Amino acid sequence: MCGIVGYTGYEQAAPLLIDGLSKLEYRGYDSAGLAIEEKEKLEVVRAKGRLRVLEEMTDNGRALHGFCGIGHTRWATHGVPSVGNAHPHCNAKKTIAVVHNGIIENYQSLKEYLEKNGYHFESETDTEVIAHLLDRYYSGDPLEAITKVMARVTGSYALGILFQDHPGKVFAVRKDSPMIVGSAEQGNFIASDIPAILKYTKNVYFVNNMEIVCMDADTIHFYNVDKEEIEKEMTTISWNAEAAEKDGYEHFMLKEIYEQPKAVQDTISPRIKEGEIVMEELGMSEEEIRQIRRIYMIGCGSAYHVCMSARYVMEALTRIPVEVDLASEFRYRDPILEEDSLVIVISQSGETADTIAALKEAKSRGARVLGIVNVVGSSIAREADNVLYTWAGPEISVATTKAYSTQLAACYLISVYFAKIRQTIKEEKYYDLVEELKNLPEKIQQILGDKERIQWFANKFASSKDIFFIGRGLDYGISLEGSLKLKEISYIHSEAYAAGELKHGTISLIEKGILVIGIATQPDLYDKMISNMVEVKSRGAYLMGLTCYGNYSMEDTANFTVYVPKTEKYFANSLAVIPLQLFAYYVAIARGLDVDKPRNLAKSVTVE
Ligand code: G6P
Repeated sequence: MCGIVGYTGYEQAAPLLIDGLSKLEYRGYDSAGLAIEEKEKLEVVRAKGRLRVLEEMTDNGRALHGFCGIGHTRWATHGVPSVGNAHPHCNAKKTIAVVHNGIIENYQSLKEYLEKNGYHFESETDTEVIAHLLDRYYSGDPLEAITKVMARVTGSYALGILFQDHPGKVFAVRKDSPMIVGSAEQGNFIASDIPAILKYTKNVYFVNNMEIVCMDADTIHFYNVDKEEIEKEMTTISWNAEAAEKDGYEHFMLKEIYEQPKAVQDTISPRIKEGEIVMEELGMSEEEIRQIRRIYMIGCGSAYHVCMSARYVMEALTRIPVEVDLASEFRYRDPILEEDSLVIVISQSGETADTIAALKEAKSRGARVLGIVNVVGSSIAREADNVLYTWAGPEISVATTKAYSTQLAACYLISVYFAKIRQTIKEEKYYDLVEELKNLPEKIQQILGDKERIQWFANKFASSKDIFFIGRGLDYGISLEGSLKLKEISYIHSEAYAAGELKHGTISLIEKGILVIGIATQPDLYDKMISNMVEVKSRGAYLMGLTCYGNYSMEDTANFTVYVPKTEKYFANSLAVIPLQLFAYYVAIARGLDVDKPRNLAKSVTVE
């Protein structure tokens, strides 16, 4: 989704803004623009397409000489991708410039109101109402104008604003869209996400909802909606800039696939002390854990798939009933939250609009909410009652890999920990499971060492029209993720089915030569899976089997078999996902696609 960077300081602003925007490319965008203070005027440059176009128009920003500016990458919501709809948007006199991330829900009525008052609109965007509203309310005091606009607009917004008659100052405000402030030696920054400014500083402030920022080269002030100054604490980020660079890999996605052993290790090992799982960060006493009567697991996209898989593990080990919901559905389905329910929301970015709304919905109904989040200080991390961080580090590629793996690991930890406290597993089993959790990173590493076979196979099927994934139980959960990964980046139509369900309709799509990937890691369901695979094979499908070492009978049925190391059946998804990620990656590469920035997708979906 849209990316914002703003800067004011002692260096030329435009090159820094373009560099910052390039670090936000992963969020997805279709046009870009800058507004720079040039000799007491606001100079606006906008371009459709990749950031490269803006770079060429401005000689990498060098053609713009000012020291203060705002930049934006736009992911179209209202109005097609075009130069006219690209941000920044200005008032008619071009004395106020605005960049926006989010959606102004009441923009139609505001537009009518403004048009009646003589304002003329140049774009199809919702954002332009902000520029004109600011103009209407501005009489020399930016804070006054900003707070009045906040009172009029509904929806979500993170705004970066320049006023021509307040040179050297960048203003910002947010509601339900992300915004951070960075304090660096060469000046101060605003940004939608940390990677944009990591090269310049690790000192950041997380801006809360309805807080206003006013900064110049040396100072940063924060205000509430009543224009009262507020104190905020600075946080020092522990990542370094290299963590957000490709580090010799051809794509971020491949780098992040390879970072999984470390990411999973970093997520698991701090929570295992002397052979015991320790999870104080859950903020729950043993008594409270024993009292849980139902768990709700909520997320979007791959985080939802983590919920789908985790349900099998959580229910099997803890015997607590688990309901899984898409955040966008949960928030509107008038959910019935019983007393002693625990709601777990999962999100890499911590900024997904639907997941935040689901969290708020759950809280408003009195439930305790635990966030499993990767981005430290993000909205979900701050709004959940407790947060369990996944230590995946910055994930740049749009298609998630390492964050997904760490979310699964976090769910295993919770499941085993709860099971021990509720005594739903024997002590011996508990220690076996803890031991096996520690082995997972090494087993993931082993699979990565064998990527060539998958690469070869992916090349062979790179021109497929449809690819199906089938599995039962946990293997159904991983089928969903394997299929999503493939379609996200290769644009091949793909579906995932619970293997037993296929014959209730979808099997009619199976024709000669269609690739069906059958996943069979679960010992109790192995024979049933083989039967389902035979069913599709006899209808002409070409079969890839994905199973654990030892299940060599798979070769009697599958045309091509991929093995992963044996593990506790509950943790098999963590291993099975690796070949599926590699398969999707190499299919997309063979098709010559932009793996890290797939069309139409955004890394962080901050609108409904
Ligand atoms: C987007 C991303 C997905 C991600 C989903 C949820 O659609 O492309 O990879 O799974 O959002 O994001 P979150 O940050 O909440 O995990």
